[in-house]
Amino acid sequence: MASLFRPRANALSAIILIGILVLVVAFCIAGYLYYQSPYHTGTGYAPEQPVPFSHQHHVGGLGIDCQYCHTSVKTSDFAGIPPTYTCMTCHSQEWTNAEMLAPVRQSLAQDEPLRWVRVHNLADYVYFSHRAHVNNGVGCESCHGRVDKMPLMVQKKPLSMQWCLECHRNPAPNLRPENRITAMGYSPGNDGVAGEELIEHYGIPLDRLTECTTCHR
Ligand code: HEC
Ligand code: HEC
Ligand code: HEC
Ligand code: HEC
Ligand code: HEC
Repeated sequence: MASLFRPRANALSAIILIGILVLVVAFCIAGYLYYQSPYHTGTGYAPEQPVPFSHQHHVGGLGIDCQYCHTSVKTSDFAGIPPTYTCMTCHSQEWTNAEMLAPVRQSLAQDEPLRWVRVHNLADYVYFSHRAHVNNGVGCESCHGRVDKMPLMVQKKPLSMQWCLECHRNPAPNLRPENRITAMGYSPGNDGVAGEELIEHYGIPLDRLTECTTCHR
């Protein structure tokens, strides 16, 4: 090698090599940071909606249970979004002329569903089921956060594989009794029902939870 280049050229090629190495490392770090960032994972995503529906008012203020609107959350893979007539059971009497509710009245009059913008969205190759979780001790709050404090729905968790697996490897600290599934502001374990007892109570198949085919089928 030494005979091919003069010392100056050697120094130059060393600088170029180091430069390339630094660039490669910088790209890797940037890629990793992007992959973990809210921009990629979607945490904090809160799109504008056709009606500024507030979970804070309806859940936190009025105390309406999740299942009043998300009726299929315990019986199907999907929680479901309420149809317009669910809103009108109250809003044909409450706030009947509010400008904010004009799209709701129009939807009912024209028999056209409201076009809510999806907030949470898993890739198609991932299998997810609400029924499997909410009937086995996992509360809405563990995955959706303090919904009762959201004036506008926002994604709180990354919904990444790493995030799913963190709980699947050790679900005990996240489990709640049946009557606390839709409760907000509940800390699992604070009413003396130990996680290990709940694992047994619900018959949670720990060995199966981390198998690839549980979520990719
Ligand atoms: C009065 C009806 C009502 C109640 C009660 C209600 N929701 Fe909703 N929820 C909606 C509507 C309408 C939407 C669609 C608009 C939006 O995203 O804000 C929605 C959207 C959501 C979404 C986002 C769906 C998506 O697009 O990804 C989540 C998560 C959710 N609700 C969780 C809950 C939880 C948890 C509770 C109980 C603590 C609850 N909701 C109670 C009506 C309701
Ligand atoms: C184990 C985590 C987890 C729990 C517990 C959970 N959700 Fe979800 N939820 C999700 C994920 C992930 C999605 C996105 C699903 C998709 O894109 O297919 C979602 C989507 C939704 C949606 C959008 C419509 C739909 O069905 O896809 C609503 C509404 C919703 N959840 C409400 C609730 C309510 C209400 C509860 C409690 C009764 C609850 N969720 C419990 C993780 C969870
Ligand atoms: C159980 C009764 C009930 C149901 C069901 C209900 N609402 Fe409401 N809503 C109310 C009441 C009461 C208020 C007034 C809240 C306040 O001022 O604290 C309200 C207020 C509102 C407002 C005014 C802004 C705000 O949040 O203060 C909007 C917009 C709204 N509701 C939309 C909806 C939509 C959309 C649905 C259906 C997905 C719905 N509501 C279902 C009772 C209900
Ligand atoms: C906070 C804890 C928690 C989180 C977060 C969580 N899970 Fe689970 N999941 C559980 C528990 C507990 C079970 C066991 C339920 C049972 O007993 O069958 C389960 C079961 C499942 C099952 C098995 C359903 C069946 O019938 O075989 C699937 C599929 C699944 N989870 C997918 C996911 C995916 C995908 C994510 C991430 C988007 C996720 N889970 C996030 C706790 C969690
Ligand atoms: C508890 C549920 C769960 C289990 C178990 C699981 N995955 Fe995933 N996997 C996910 C989710 C959710 C995503 C989507 C991640 C995203 O969109 O960022 C994913 C994404 C992937 C991807 C796409 C690339 C990536 O990282 O985003 C591959 C490949 C993959 N999983 C392979 C596997 C293999 C192999 C196993 C078994 C060792 C496995 N998964 C077990 C939930 C799971």
